[in-house]
Amino acid sequence: MTGNGTSGGENFSLRDILLRGRKLNFAERTQFFSNWIQERAACGDSLYMRHILSPADRQVSILDPDTGQERSMLMFGSNNYLGLANHPHVQRRVKEAIDQFGVGIGGPPLLNGYTRLHHELETRLATFKSKQAALVFSSGYGANVGMMSALVSKHDLVLHDASSHASFHDGLKMGGATSMKFAHNDVAELEQRLDAAKTQTRGDVFVGVEGVYSMDGDLAPLDKIAPLCREKGAILVLDDAHGTGVLGASGHGTDAHFGVEDDVDIVMGTFSKAFGVVGGFVASSQEVVDYLRFFARSYFFSASMPPVVAASVLGCLDIIEREPGHLLGLRANTRYLARGLRRLGFDVNPESAIIPLMAPRSMNLRKASFDFHRRGIFLNSIEYPAVPSHKQRFRISVMASHTQRDLDRLLSVIEEVWAIHTQERRLDLHAAAAA
Ligand SMILES: Cc1ncc(COP(=O)(O)O)c(C=O)c1O
Repeated sequence: MTGNGTSGGENFSLRDILLRGRKLNFAERTQFFSNWIQERAACGDSLYMRHILSPADRQVSILDPDTGQERSMLMFGSNNYLGLANHPHVQRRVKEAIDQFGVGIGGPPLLNGYTRLHHELETRLATFKSKQAALVFSSGYGANVGMMSALVSKHDLVLHDASSHASFHDGLKMGGATSMKFAHNDVAELEQRLDAAKTQTRGDVFVGVEGVYSMDGDLAPLDKIAPLCREKGAILVLDDAHGTGVLGASGHGTDAHFGVEDDVDIVMGTFSKAFGVVGGFVASSQEVVDYLRFFARSYFFSASMPPVVAASVLGCLDIIEREPGHLLGLRANTRYLARGLRRLGFDVNPESAIIPLMAPRSMNLRKASFDFHRRGIFLNSIEYPAVPSHKQRFRISVMASHTQRDLDRLLSVIEEVWAIHTQERRLDLHAAAAA
């Protein structure tokens, strides 16, 4: 920290900040970080936490940090893939639930926090995921942490994909499990590790993968992984946060897409993506679900999701089952956008509703983000530590409700921003060479 109370960190990346922070005590660390993040915002280098003033639709109204004025933007950062967050039927179900249950519940499910709606939702989800039973958590994060910390004992071994989500890792840490990663989607390495596991553990072997990987949008090859786990006697745990509602003929998820529902032992998902609200679930055998209700600490020791949230997810399930047009629209939009991106020279072949736009290492992602923002495109930039520094990117989330005009506008802004920022970089290099 410098003497004037600033971080002096105009040139620091978040990686530098994290490394420096380790050497500082609590007060120094928090002050240093707080100064740094506020300086970033003051010099227009941070677009975190833009205030949204309207429903989470294809178009949103925000309070522009640049001008202090309200402005409209096209939303390409929301995981509300099916566009159901503001659907009239879902709103209707929520209003009915408010009339009947009010807004809160004030307790955990095993005590006073379990309504008819929670029960109805768990029953519907079990059927939706072709499992005997399901239980719902207040967040997807909590579902993963609760599930992994409760299911795995110290004698067990967990083999997981190198790109697993933070919530999965946190669950492993909390449960004190022994874990090993295998290279992303590398089935051969997984097989080697499964063979070696026989001599490495006297407990059970779990394999953890995601249906759709959230940063790259690619799928786990479940057609290979599921039979492999069956053959080797491993318990397969699937995080289908981004696949539920999006993949499979009727949106039942990535396991349905590959036709391997019966070979996936435990599946979790979130309500913060295709269902457009918040919460999570785990679906499995009756025994696993009964066990989790008492041993998953994020379930047992945490208040239930409000009944209105359960009602909104039920409303979304109604729509997913009755109106396949949303899913078809999402797929058509994804294909259309991918074709346009390929015409611009991007190497994309999306398998889900997530399209990563890999940015060259030389691109100043923050400045490019502002250029998207100024042109009315709300797009999330992803940098370290969410991805390795050399894999920085923009992450496009496609929605069923985007119009062709929205997608064309996005394509033309991408073309412009790329021209500016690869051009800018070239100018920088010329300047450096001339100096
Ligand atoms: C793969 C994956 N699992 C779990 C979660 C946690 O879900 P939630 O944000 O609903 O708590 C996320 C959220 O981004 C995710 O991408």
